[in-house]
Amino acid sequence: MRDSKAWRRILSIPAALGLVALTVAACGGARPESSSGDPTVAGTVHVCSSCHGPDGRSISPTFPRLAAQQKDYLVAQLQAFRDKTRADPHAQTYMWGMAAQLSDQNIDAIATY
Ligand code: HEC
Repeated sequence: MRDSKAWRRILSIPAALGLVALTVAACGGARPESSSGDPTVAGTVHVCSSCHGPDGRSISPTFPRLAAQQKDYLVAQLQAFRDKTRADPHAQTYMWGMAAQLSDQNIDAIATY
């Protein structure tokens, strides 16, 4: 009888360790990341979504819907804002500042997202 109790205690050690490992894995998986897995992109699109809506589905006529837009088109527009070649008033007011800091690599990653 005493033996079987001791065995149970020994067996419970790896079980507890397994639980810790599972918890760590679950927390790691819950980190907010974009589908591209790049935290920079996730942070950037979070800012964009304040005007363009969650997932780019804007409901305001001022802010264009970006969802389902062609990647090449998005890249071209973001480069035009950054390089200030797209210069209508709304573009100047809203998008020049947003795009000024974007690198070609960032633009590509955002447009892919
Ligand atoms: C402060 C609000 C605001 C934020 C934040 C913002 N945008 Fe915009 N965006 C606009 C407005 C307004 C326009 C329309 C400009 C115009 O009419 O020329 C626009 C236009 C665009 C366009 C062109 C769409 C089209 O149909 O031609 C793209 C692409 C775009 N934004 C991407 C982004 C991305 C990517 C971000 C994040 C880095 C972002 N925007 C953040 C307000 C915003």
